[in-house]
Amino acid sequence: MERLDKFLCDSGVGTRSQVKVILKSGRVTVDGKPEKDSARKIDPNVQVICLDGEPLGGKRRVVLMLNKPEGFVTATEDKNDRTVMELLPPEYKHLDLKPVGRLDKATEGLLLFTNDGDLLHRLISPKKEVPKVYYARHEGTAGEADIAAFAAGLTLRDGLNCLSAKLEPLGPGESLITVCEGKYHQVRRMMASRNMTVLYLERRQEGGLTLGDLPRGAVRELSKEEISSLDKM
Ligand code: URA
Repeated sequence: MERLDKFLCDSGVGTRSQVKVILKSGRVTVDGKPEKDSARKIDPNVQVICLDGEPLGGKRRVVLMLNKPEGFVTATEDKNDRTVMELLPPEYKHLDLKPVGRLDKATEGLLLFTNDGDLLHRLISPKKEVPKVYYARHEGTAGEADIAAFAAGLTLRDGLNCLSAKLEPLGPGESLITVCEGKYHQVRRMMASRNMTVLYLERRQEGGLTLGDLPRGAVRELSKEEISSLDKM
């Protein structure tokens, strides 16, 4: 048995204070009867709890997209730095969301979160080879030899072999890089191996998802269609 308000928060209905207002407005039913008492004890395995007539099933499956600003580490906790978890709005705090892969502290851009463990593992599995597109500002300018070396599969300075990747120069000191794996500091190390130190890095795309007009630091929930496109990968 648990409190109705806690169940509603954990189901992603809203924060404690939002849930209070929702309960007062009579939109929640327990076994078909409107319930306004936030302290009411319920058993979600036995009783049917609905919001606006729609049944709630405990922790709902959520996939979020964050446009990560620089200065936050991709971790659920950290002793020294602010983490990406601090950027999630309060109504998502109780949903056990985990970042999908990682972006370096200095890297900006698209970072997904989910509470679906299967989806998380599929998206970060090297076997799936989900393409990720990065925009980089860097020292030097990418040329034909660099493009060919990326396509052939680079060997990093420490001897590590990379899968074939796409390098598209946009102009002097600016490129797009598409990689299908997620090794530690991968893009920075690939660019360094061609003497093009990365000065700024932003992830713009992952699989079929793009940042679009999501402002830096903002979060949005993926639509059902976007989630099913990830399920198909
Ligand atoms: N490659 C990097 O070097 N850093 C990132 O944050 C992501 C990819």
